[in-house]
Amino acid sequence: MERTAIILGATGLTGEQVVEKLLADDYFSRIRILVRKAYPHHHPRLEVEQVDFQDQASWPSLMHGEALFSCLGTTMKQVRGDRELYRRVDFDIPLQAARAAAALGVKKLLVISSLGADPHSRFFYPKLKGELEAALGQLSFQAIHILRPSFLTGNRADHRPLERFTQMVYPLLRPMLVGRWRKYRTIGSDIVAEAMVKLAKSGKMGKFVYDSDEIAGLPLRLM
Ligand SMILES: NC(=O)c1ccc[n+]([C@@H]2O[C@H](COP(=O)([O-])OP(=O)(O)OC[C@H]3O[C@@H](n4cnc5c(N)ncnc54)[C@H](OP(=O)(O)O)[C@@H]3O)[C@@H](O)[C@H]2O)c1
Repeated sequence: MERTAIILGATGLTGEQVVEKLLADDYFSRIRILVRKAYPHHHPRLEVEQVDFQDQASWPSLMHGEALFSCLGTTMKQVRGDRELYRRVDFDIPLQAARAAAALGVKKLLVISSLGADPHSRFFYPKLKGELEAALGQLSFQAIHILRPSFLTGNRADHRPLERFTQMVYPLLRPMLVGRWRKYRTIGSDIVAEAMVKLAKSGKMGKFVYDSDEIAGLPLRLM
């Protein structure tokens, strides 16, 4: 059966692992990634689309298939503190992609949001993620899976001091993060990627939001 997965953010910490896991599995016959730079890897089932995300007349037409995975996002460092630019990446691109996908008949949407996402938050990042979740929730998909990870761990090429610091102090904090604090435990980007792939393969229909501790349990639950 022909099934296409579309991935945004395929070159990122989590997105890269989503692509790897999709290629290692034969559920999706085609893996289409949208990237902004030349992509060095090749695979017979991998379709690489190098696009200009600012050119909205071009890439949204590529949003046809069965499932859209959104793993895209920027950092304050990358946008040099420009909140408008941050919003264009973390809010506008995923929303435009999801709107186009819904219009083109994509059935499943899988999005990485963030722990604490809340459209009413006083803080920029959780508010932005909360607003994105709310906007995506209005769209018509058979299934919308919103994943809210805590700090992601994994091997990252670029230098992120806060992430490094968290990874260093985390082993000391972990025993205290139990009960309702469990969702603050760091989570491996590989686990988030595995959960996304398994959710995309599952027959679950409806809108679902998973906090970090639930994401951690998904790969085993969705065997
Ligand atoms: N890191 C964390 O601890 C954490 C925690 C909770 C939630 N999240 C969220 O989880 C998602 C994935 O995080 P991650 O750390 O795995 O991602 P990441 O490693 O930072 O990768 C981000 C991806 O987005 C792409 N991207 C960035 N700016 C772009 C732009 N202006 N135009 C087009 N593409 C752009 C990057 O492409 P290039 O390779 O071309 O730059 C890359 O593929 C993000 O939405 C993030 O906010 C992260």
